[in-house]
Amino acid sequence: MISPRLGSLLAPLCVALGTISCAEDPGPQRLSEWGIFADGATQTAVEGLVEYELRAPLFSDYSSKHRFIRLPPGETITVEDATGRLLFPEGTLIVKTFGFHEDLRDPSSPERIVETRLLERRDGRWLPYVYLWDETASDATSTRIGARVPVTFTDLDGEERTFSYRVPSVTQCGNCHGGRDDIEILGPRVEQLDRDHDYGSGPENQLEHLVSMGWLAAMPTGSRTFVDPADETAPIDARARSYLHANCAHCHRDGGAADQSGLWLDIDETGESRLGFCKIPAAAGRGTGGRSVDIWPGDPDRSILMFRVESDEPGIKMPELPAVLVHDEGVEVLRAWIASLPPRECAAP
Ligand code: HEC
Ligand code: HEC
Repeated sequence: MISPRLGSLLAPLCVALGTISCAEDPGPQRLSEWGIFADGATQTAVEGLVEYELRAPLFSDYSSKHRFIRLPPGETITVEDATGRLLFPEGTLIVKTFGFHEDLRDPSSPERIVETRLLERRDGRWLPYVYLWDETASDATSTRIGARVPVTFTDLDGEERTFSYRVPSVTQCGNCHGGRDDIEILGPRVEQLDRDHDYGSGPENQLEHLVSMGWLAAMPTGSRTFVDPADETAPIDARARSYLHANCAHCHRDGGAADQSGLWLDIDETGESRLGFCKIPAAAGRGTGGRSVDIWPGDPDRSILMFRVESDEPGIKMPELPAVLVHDEGVEVLRAWIASLPPRECAAP
């Protein structure tokens, strides 16, 4: 896929950096070589690249996101029954673009397209790629080392915000996507995809659309525990658990980067102590804010979890880098949830 000349130019740099992913094929230099967008600025996909949305998305510093899947001709997706996760065939490409709307209160305000990440299924593994868009979003250039991009937008309260957005390096992909073995797919699972999307002829259920395309053999069944955390009509417990899953569980799960903390926030987790109820943290110190347990049911202000999601200080902030901004709306959901839990006495500090 990459010219031998470019490959040999990159090889010494990779040896110097000593990274594993660098030893791999760095892929095309230009995103246009993948032939996936008819128009980058509007994120208009070519035929065969199918857009999807999640019920409960990951918050990434108020960026907008565009997600797409491309399957090789004639291939299908299978569903892992126990988890509802989708299993993709060799040659699948999953695409995720990050941008920023000028004004978050107005989804039709101009959007600056910043970066596009790819995961390509090859030789039984997912290979990561990142591309940085040029000013006019005419094309994007491969970066393996990430970048910082100054971004300005108007937030939901009408205030102007400027910050340095972080594009991760390819070695950082594994911090969140890494399971026990290799890079894993995080978003697409049955319950997350079970929502409407407009493919051009009005809202349509995404799973039904995949069935109609022949990508899924049959309409998968599944309960509906996932809700949109921003949906104020949904029960607070479902909103908070969906939020924790989407924003924390990729690290806070068996085999994830925060495995050792013993705090597991997957939506399927039922153990109260694992979920942080009256749980004494694995690591003490600055990251506790002088509080004794991760979640003090009924009392957000005695819960370490709130202290960490309300902080933007490196070393305390949750989620960890590369996200840098506090998610005020997410914090509100978690605060309301902990306050709603039947009060209980945990061990005092
Ligand atoms: C801070 C954690 C984090 C980092 C770092 C990260 N991702 Fe992700 N990524 C996620 C989560 C969580 C999702 C699923 C939720 C969503 O799409 O909103 C996701 C979704 C994706 C998707 C769509 C398929 C899927 O797994 O759901 C692609 C493609 C992707 N990421 C590529 C990358 C690449 C390439 C890198 C490294 C350059 C990277 N990501 C770094 C957390 C991360
Ligand atoms: C990119 C990986 C990552 C993400 C995403 C992440 N965390 Fe963490 N978290 C860690 C790591 C690593 C630790 C252990 C080291 C430490 O305490 O800083 C940790 C520790 C914690 C602790 C202390 C737990 C204990 O019992 O020791 C809390 C509370 C916490 N995280 C809350 C959250 C919440 C809430 C979210 C989502 C809003 C989140 N984290 C997202 C990596 C992550």
